[in-house]
Amino acid sequence: MAKILVTGGLGYIGSHTVVELVAAGYEPIIVDDLSNSNVKILDQLSRIIGFKPAFYQFDLCDMQKLNEFIAVEPEIDGIIHFAAFKAVGESVRNPLKYYRNNFYSLLNLLEVYKTKTINFVFSSSCTVYGQPDELPVTENAPVKMAESPYGNTKQIAEEILRDAITAGEAQKVIALRYFNPVGAHDTALIGELPNGVPQNLVPFITQTAIGKREKITVFGNNYNTKDGSCVRDYIHVVDLAKAHVAALRLMENEGFKGYDVFNLGTGNGNTVLEIIAAFENTTGVRLNYEIGPRREGDVEKVWGDVTKSTNKLHWQAQLGIDIMMSSAWEWEKYIAENPL
Ligand code: NAD
Ligand code: WQD
Repeated sequence: MAKILVTGGLGYIGSHTVVELVAAGYEPIIVDDLSNSNVKILDQLSRIIGFKPAFYQFDLCDMQKLNEFIAVEPEIDGIIHFAAFKAVGESVRNPLKYYRNNFYSLLNLLEVYKTKTINFVFSSSCTVYGQPDELPVTENAPVKMAESPYGNTKQIAEEILRDAITAGEAQKVIALRYFNPVGAHDTALIGELPNGVPQNLVPFITQTAIGKREKITVFGNNYNTKDGSCVRDYIHVVDLAKAHVAALRLMENEGFKGYDVFNLGTGNGNTVLEIIAAFENTTGVRLNYEIGPRREGDVEKVWGDVTKSTNKLHWQAQLGIDIMMSSAWEWEKYIAENPL
């Protein structure tokens, strides 16, 4: 059974990917420092997959700890590197915190595995496109100047990975550019656990619906879109998780060499108001929302061209907006009744 190191494996996307790895016959080894996750997710995971996955708690920026880990887990076949800080606003206020964590963790991993043949999957983001000139945006679209230090860490990380491949310091790398991951596992045992006030739309919606927040503000209704609110490509986290298995499978082919990058979205855009309507319709819960001013730094509209991921990664999103909303809502209710 191939062993896959899942860094950040107790986080939102990482935990869902652990489930899909097990379903696909891989053995996940989780490394997480719990800086943005809860150790009880390990128990939740074992309820889904039937056993407790291997877990090591340490900060990947700590080279000594990483070397100690390698001494006890010398045989790793692949790495899915989720571990990073991801709060855009915080990255503007504390850029060094973001550059330090997101780069040192990546560089340490590349350094310790550079002489081994490891298939490496990297979590990138559609944020690298900024506001694209053409929609849907393809992987060939120019990378725009980053809007935030967080976005910059993704752009530079992609460059670091490409350079490492060119120089032979890494063998096979796939960067996955996620659009907007939402929703939760259908068991409602794992999902997104935002720290403090959620910055992202769907957790804000579910927290408002359950009464943790008084109301949700729609950030602008005067954009050049069908109803004036911003458009994004929302993708179910379970679909996203499955794409990581597809990426590993692709790299296992003899024919795959070097570096490649794929969009992970549905290929469709939805407005904020459509998402709110979908939430209300699928759950039957009315949302208290108001229209407010634009949020600084928001792009007007972005959605992905998924032709390349369909044809080369052999992966496509299956789950629609309704299941994204209903699963997010089931998770919010679960966590309200069963706080971790
Ligand atoms: P998350 O915060 O839920 O998960 C990241 C996990 O990594 C957390 O459990 C955290 O404790 C851990 N971690 C962070 N730094 C670490 C370190 N130095 N050592 C060990 N563990 C560390 O985030 P997520 O939403 O699951 O995102 C996963 C990845 O996907 C991140 O790289 C993120 O930038 C990227 N991404 C996320 C989104 C999104 O909207 N969620 C979109 C695009 C890309
Ligand atoms: C979605 C839409 C908001 C909250 C961010 C990062 C990006 C990526 C995904 C990691 C926007 C609107 C939101 C609210 C609202 N992460 N909104 N009221 O901004 O597309 O992307 O997460 O790589 O890098 O920037 O996601 O969920 O914050 O917003 O109207 O209370 O919802 O304006 O149009 P975003 P989001």
